[in-house]
Amino acid sequence: MAEFAAMTDKNADKNADKNTGENDVIAIPPKAARLLTALACRRVCAATLDAIDIGGFRPNVMDILVLGGAVFLGRHFTDSALRAGHRVTHFNRGRSDPRPTPGVERLIGDRDRDLSALAGRRWDAVIDTCAYFPRQVTAAATALRGAARRYALVSSVNRYADFPHPGIDEDHPGEATPDDLAASSADPPLNAETYGFLKAACERALHAAWGEGGLVLRPGYLVGPYDRSHRFHYWVRRLAAGGRFLAPGIPDAPWQFIDVRDLTDWVIRLLEAPSSGFATFNVVGPASDSIAGDLLDRIAAATGGVARPTWVDADLLARSVEGSRWLDLADWSNLPDRHRFLYAVSNRRAVEAGLRIRPVAETVAAVLDHLSGRRIEPAAEALAPDVEAALLRALGQAD
Ligand SMILES: NC(=O)c1ccc[n+]([C@@H]2O[C@H](COP(=O)([O-])OP(=O)(O)OC[C@H]3O[C@@H](n4cnc5c(N)ncnc54)[C@H](OP(=O)(O)O)[C@@H]3O)[C@@H](O)[C@H]2O)c1
Repeated sequence: MAEFAAMTDKNADKNADKNTGENDVIAIPPKAARLLTALACRRVCAATLDAIDIGGFRPNVMDILVLGGAVFLGRHFTDSALRAGHRVTHFNRGRSDPRPTPGVERLIGDRDRDLSALAGRRWDAVIDTCAYFPRQVTAAATALRGAARRYALVSSVNRYADFPHPGIDEDHPGEATPDDLAASSADPPLNAETYGFLKAACERALHAAWGEGGLVLRPGYLVGPYDRSHRFHYWVRRLAAGGRFLAPGIPDAPWQFIDVRDLTDWVIRLLEAPSSGFATFNVVGPASDSIAGDLLDRIAAATGGVARPTWVDADLLARSVEGSRWLDLADWSNLPDRHRFLYAVSNRRAVEAGLRIRPVAETVAAVLDHLSGRRIEPAAEALAPDVEAALLRALGQAD
């Protein structure tokens, strides 16, 4: 499961206090005016605008706790929150990135052992990017219950049991935990086989420990700057290099990805709005007409490169490039039957709640910008150019 590989690794009251706005405000100071303009430009719901605290200068500023924050998704949540004018605290072990993030408070702790750094504090919202076992969610949600209004848990579309048809929506059944593991008090190993049902169990843990104000996010394949998995970056780099390239599988295979920034910008807007109940969203790219051949063409066009695919049966390639994990990068091509429509999941509910998907070209530009000037590690799973050229020659497809 390619996504697993990527993973290596009572504030209603508080807001009410902030927003009582009993101090009559006669003139809007310039700073507040700028913030109001920014807010008007963002798609915030009317209810959020109603809650703006003009007298406090900073309308609806939230304190957001990110459990995690230092690698990829958490980093983008932080950027989106800071850009929107909110304050951010990270809670992590200080291992993944020992450098403090500018403008962010950091609390050090290991969520598996000691949550005491969170004691006595209050936030408006919690964003949990690093929960893989239900006990982790139960412990954090219990410790933070009453200390925050919202708890957003990052789950995954992999929590679904299967993908038998396009357009799987949020009501599709989840992966059940196998009986022997459910009965065991020990954590199962975390791997590609267990990841999905553990995420489903994490969601149930949030529902039980938090309830109202809980928000479950089920992202699909996330792409963008700071992705350490090399999956999308490989294709951007390869297509930017141009020429004939090997493309595993068939061009019509469903493929779907979402720019991580589309997810994080939207979730911050969701958290700004008043909460209603316990909400769950698939957070994926467009589902209709989203196929590998077209997306690779669009990536190539965005890089300015001229790249021509040679589509080759994925099993044949697997035999030819034995030992390489390169095929995992072409994750549209080697899906087991029950995952056939993994990349055709419905995002309708999220789009109706304001999710907007940026053009592929913007994502590619951001990735190129991120990669520029950085040392590119020879990604262990990438296909070496000479191996690719030899395979193309053997297929009579060399340029
Ligand atoms: N990439 C995808 O395509 C994709 C798709 C669907 C879902 N997802 C989900 O998205 C999330 C990926 O997030 P990310 O890794 O990019 O998030 P991140 O928040 O950028 O990085 C993970 C953070 O968790 C912290 N952490 C890990 N273990 C911890 C512990 N025991 N106690 C405290 N902090 C801990 C790490 O810091 P320290 O190491 O310093 O503690 C790091 O700051 C995962 O939940 C994954 O399942 C990803």
